[in-house]
Amino acid sequence: MLKDKIAIVTGAAAGIGESTALYFAEQGAHVAVVDRDPEGANKVAQHIASIGGHAIAIHADMRDRASLEAAAVATLATYGRIDILINNAGIYPRQSFLAITDAEWDDMQDVNLKGTFRMSQIAALQMVRQGGGKIVNISSVTFFLGVKHLSHYVAAKGGVIGLTRVMAKELGEHNIHVNCITPGAIQTASEKFFVTDEQAKVFLESQSLKRRLQPVDVARVCAFLAGPLSDGLTGQTVNVDGGWMLY
Ligand SMILES: NC(=O)c1ccc[n+]([C@@H]2O[C@H](COP(=O)([O-])OP(=O)(O)OC[C@H]3O[C@@H](n4cnc5c(N)ncnc54)[C@H](O)[C@@H]3O)[C@@H](O)[C@H]2O)c1
Repeated sequence: MLKDKIAIVTGAAAGIGESTALYFAEQGAHVAVVDRDPEGANKVAQHIASIGGHAIAIHADMRDRASLEAAAVATLATYGRIDILINNAGIYPRQSFLAITDAEWDDMQDVNLKGTFRMSQIAALQMVRQGGGKIVNISSVTFFLGVKHLSHYVAAKGGVIGLTRVMAKELGEHNIHVNCITPGAIQTASEKFFVTDEQAKVFLESQSLKRRLQPVDVARVCAFLAGPLSDGLTGQTVNVDGGWMLY
């Protein structure tokens, strides 16, 4: 489905991004594994190579435009095109609304919202030159739920949905599709730092599907939105949450 497509996946050293990079490589894509964790990115690229896929590891930080521009340049130098961008990199530290500092607020927006804006703009300029492309932004179901101690995160992820809509409107004439995924509770390795067993039980009670969702559940929907099966679709937000929020 993604054979010979060139994909940049941000935050691809772990979790949903790692799973997406791997799944895309299994589908035949050539993947730029972009992360602020160079060791983790290298491991993922090596894993992809070990199963016969194509990947390069790129060290970049969503807060630093120059490093993201360098990531695009490195992708073009190796593969010559950018067909797909998955804006996945994100952070989710908890803080109560009354205690949150300006610095904590700004860091959250810088990575989760402005980073998505930066990387999208850089990739979209190349996609315009190429005559099209597909961008998938990773938001969060917390935007629909409203979750305590995540005001800065929920505000950023709501911004990602808004950004998706305007990008879709502006970039449609260039055949660039822009869609968004709002994952629910996905069982990543980093989740255990934030989620207790009790909370995990609540997730299952809230979901219609009674199994914990895995990173690959999101990766598969990324593949749908990055591939030809979604050619008639742009500006949309797809909820991958096991039937938690129904709308
Ligand atoms: N796991 C969930 O339940 C869940 C639910 C909803 C939304 N999401 C969203 O999905 C995305 C991935 O989440 P995850 O759970 O896989 O996270 P994760 O912590 O497992 O992985 C995130 C990756 O992003 C990288 N990263 C973080 N900040 C970066 C920066 N400034 N520059 C470059 N790379 C950076 C990290 O190094 C890491 O490799 C995030 O945007 C998150 O908000 C996750």
